[in-house]
Amino acid sequence: MVYQVYPRSFLDSNGDGIGDLPGIIKKLDYLQWLGIDALWLNPICASPDADNGYDISDYYAIHEDFGTMEDFDRLAAGLHERGIRLILDLVVNHTSDEHPWFSASRSSPEHPMRDFYIWLPGNTDGKDLLPPNNWESFFEGSAWELDPCSREFYLHLFSRKQPDLNWENPKLRSEVYRMMNWWLDKGVDGFRMDVINMISKVPGYPDGTPGASSGILGSEHFINGPLVIEYLREMRQSLHTRKDLLTIGETSDVDADAALTYVNSHDGPLSMLFQIDHMEIDQNEEGYWSCVPWKLADMKRILASWQTGMHGRGWNTLFLNNHDQPRMVSRFGNDREYRKQSAKLLAMMLYTLEGTPFIYQGEEIGMTNAYFDSIEDYRDVWAKNFYARSAAEGTNEQEIMRHIKYRGRDNARTPMQWDQGPCGGFTSGKPWIRVNPNFREINVSQAMDDPDSILHFYRTLIRMRKTHAVLVFGDFPLHAGDHEQLFAYTRTLNDQRADVFLLFSQTPLDIRSLADQKQIPYASGELLLANYDDAEEHPDMLRPYEARVYRSISGSYLTAGNQEK
Ligand code: GLC
Ligand code: CA
Repeated sequence: MVYQVYPRSFLDSNGDGIGDLPGIIKKLDYLQWLGIDALWLNPICASPDADNGYDISDYYAIHEDFGTMEDFDRLAAGLHERGIRLILDLVVNHTSDEHPWFSASRSSPEHPMRDFYIWLPGNTDGKDLLPPNNWESFFEGSAWELDPCSREFYLHLFSRKQPDLNWENPKLRSEVYRMMNWWLDKGVDGFRMDVINMISKVPGYPDGTPGASSGILGSEHFINGPLVIEYLREMRQSLHTRKDLLTIGETSDVDADAALTYVNSHDGPLSMLFQIDHMEIDQNEEGYWSCVPWKLADMKRILASWQTGMHGRGWNTLFLNNHDQPRMVSRFGNDREYRKQSAKLLAMMLYTLEGTPFIYQGEEIGMTNAYFDSIEDYRDVWAKNFYARSAAEGTNEQEIMRHIKYRGRDNARTPMQWDQGPCGGFTSGKPWIRVNPNFREINVSQAMDDPDSILHFYRTLIRMRKTHAVLVFGDFPLHAGDHEQLFAYTRTLNDQRADVFLLFSQTPLDIRSLADQKQIPYASGELLLANYDDAEEHPDMLRPYEARVYRSISGSYLTAGNQEK
């Protein structure tokens, strides 16, 4: 399993309020104790931070807020000594507009590096110069920005400070591969590839059709574009060979079939994918900032289609939150009276499905959304732009904040809560973003001392998964797919069987009668793990957010009253 660190918010070692590499080094023993196999770091390269490091200005330098290249080398060595692999974030759909490549490219249409980025003349309506097409950017209005000198527009799918690289240019591509090899030679074990299925754009840059894709206007012309697989194959072939190189593509807008072009076990160019279908179950056609109630039946349908679609053919990731998503216990569980139970339930789900589980820092102690009331407390460019745009459109403050409090990415970017000390032990200075006020109750030190904590439960789950191959490789029959409170499934591998029961509700549920009706199997076999101590004494009823996994071998299972299933 992989642990994701958002360096800016993990641990600050020098009191400047910003997490850093020496801070991560201090916590390596903690990560090893937890049992992780690999560490993924969000971007650590030099960046003016228009998008917290996803706008890189020098691929060969460590961000000065995070430390030095020596710190990086110490971190890599410390991880490797502990048998933990190191995965970097590869941000190559775009750079910062402060990257020297962009300065050169912008300097003149004749510059040899002009073509490292995507420049087009605009359209004119006789009066004004208009963008070349109607594509929208994720973070702000049109995806095109006019350069006043050359009177041409450059493409930016994210903020205007993140110009898109032109992957059609072979020189640019070889620069990217050179840079990747440089990091591989330094001992990096793999890459998480940022928005990697956006690197190939449809030639001619045609207008987007409203409603043509689930994403923003034009995205059907830049997501899963015509040459993306070819580029990724070329990338794979250009990298210094490493048998165990781990590559994880961040790919929105793929279904299981499309995913298999990226990760099929035969010739897929990547090891695994982050697909985000299940992260969109609380959105409507208004897109990212909408927040509509989600339904368990949708979650089950989506996860089941990925489980069966990929089984035996390609490998997937398992996650319910990261630095771009709200905290999972706040979104899919209950972060008030059932925080502990529901965080464990969600974890149990992740660790009993096929794929590689990812823990986002703080998830293992059940950190919750920040829910800051004032826009002043938010830092994310996306939230700030959404606020400004909605305010300009006349939406009232409270309504705008409702969306940001539910969905905003800063919910998950508040500092890691280590102890009850000032700022939760994150910094001795002033943190770059406020600490979640609940740090006195929710922190690592408290969780270490509490044998019943979410943290200890994660540690147990990680070990359990390592000892039971059926949980990793088994197939996946789903039961009672339409049930709105219960998620129940079976994993089977040869004669091994695991039955999982997860109650996504505060209202207890009689599972014996559902089994009598043949909707689900009986809860029987060896109880491997549960999130209630006395689960064995209450086999027929699931209590609020109760989660259990039973193991059996087929012979013994058949005698347990499940002959018909
Ligand atoms: C990815 C990153 C996100 C970033 C965006 C642009 O989705 O995870 O944090 O803002 O790409 O690089
Ligand atoms: Ca610092």
